[in-house]
Amino acid sequence: MSTRRLVLSRSAAIIGAASTGLLLPGIVRGQSSKIRVGFMLPYTGTFSQLGVAIENGFRMAINEQGGKLGGREIEYFKVDDESEPSKGIENASKLVQRDKVDVLVGTVHSGVQMGIQKVARDSGVLCLIPNAGVHAATRALCAPNVFRTSFSNSQPTRALGKVMMDRGHKKAVWITWKYAAGDEAFEGFKESYTAAGGTIVKELGLPFPNVEFQALLTEIAALKPDAVACFFAGGGAAKFIRDYAAAGLKGKIPLYGSGFLTEGVLDAAGPAAEGIVTTMHYSDSLDTPRNKQFRLDYVKAFRSQPDVYAVQGYDTGLLLIQGANAVKGDLGAKPVLYKAMEGATIDSPRGKWTMSKAHNPVQDIYLRVVENKENKVIGIAAKALADSGVGCKMA
Ligand code: PHB
Repeated sequence: MSTRRLVLSRSAAIIGAASTGLLLPGIVRGQSSKIRVGFMLPYTGTFSQLGVAIENGFRMAINEQGGKLGGREIEYFKVDDESEPSKGIENASKLVQRDKVDVLVGTVHSGVQMGIQKVARDSGVLCLIPNAGVHAATRALCAPNVFRTSFSNSQPTRALGKVMMDRGHKKAVWITWKYAAGDEAFEGFKESYTAAGGTIVKELGLPFPNVEFQALLTEIAALKPDAVACFFAGGGAAKFIRDYAAAGLKGKIPLYGSGFLTEGVLDAAGPAAEGIVTTMHYSDSLDTPRNKQFRLDYVKAFRSQPDVYAVQGYDTGLLLIQGANAVKGDLGAKPVLYKAMEGATIDSPRGKWTMSKAHNPVQDIYLRVVENKENKVIGIAAKALADSGVGCKMA
């Protein structure tokens, strides 16, 4: 066969395969094939509920578009990352190398995110972070193909310190899980609390995902600070709230936190959660048509109440939709895709937000209090708060 005929017959085979959707390995996927979306999320362990809420929210946004992205069908892939940092690279590689996803949506845990970040930077695959706030992802290790739709770890707590000082709490104890999310949340708290004149009398911690809080609660009782501030989330947060009350501290030493403390746990935490004041980029009770409609639709679809994680998953879908529409479903058109996502305004249930230069949300932080099993908004703790993005140089 002549070279020319070989080329012709090969391209005929590609066109045939593309039109039937049966593509040969190694051949660039055409526009008629499905967009491959990979979820790398925790489906087991203390953050399992967070993973499910994120996936639900994402699917909801896509389903509002008839289940398509830029006119193309979607095929979903899933990996349970177990919130296990040591398996982060391996799990991300499964989605990128084995499943050949066009976009990786993940994850929740900051340590696991570092593995994803490496795979994203090495492979260039589009990566959307629907929760994990690890600073490096949108600071020193930022990348053109990585976008975060949630927060940076110090964003919610940067609004907390002044709130506590305004309420007359001059001496505080900080307590958290000792890993990137807790340590970086502390950074935000320390900066805002000390700038407002507060003194941190002790920093307490335990390894993630340990929930043996007793000894630390005894120490807090002995220290008698004016207030306690913390970062906990998921199943561990519900237990911390219950143990805090059981130790006799509720009503004596007010408990504050970044809002993750009271997200998705209000049923499990019960009356012990009432009155806890937190700062967060979302609140159940936001009185806007957008939030009300979102909450109604979510309950209808999933028979459970949405929380901040569901909103972040939903916004991840909204961001991808804006990008995919700009390139009519051709996610390979990277410069146009990234530009559209960088310039996007997300009309979120949390309120409208935009993307910083380092690809992290610029957003309002609400002041909330738990009342009748709901996170009620009682003010805005910070308006249009951006992460510093320090050290981020886009290649
Ligand atoms: C994180 O590890 O970055 C993390 C996990 C759960 C949260 C917030 C941050 O609720």
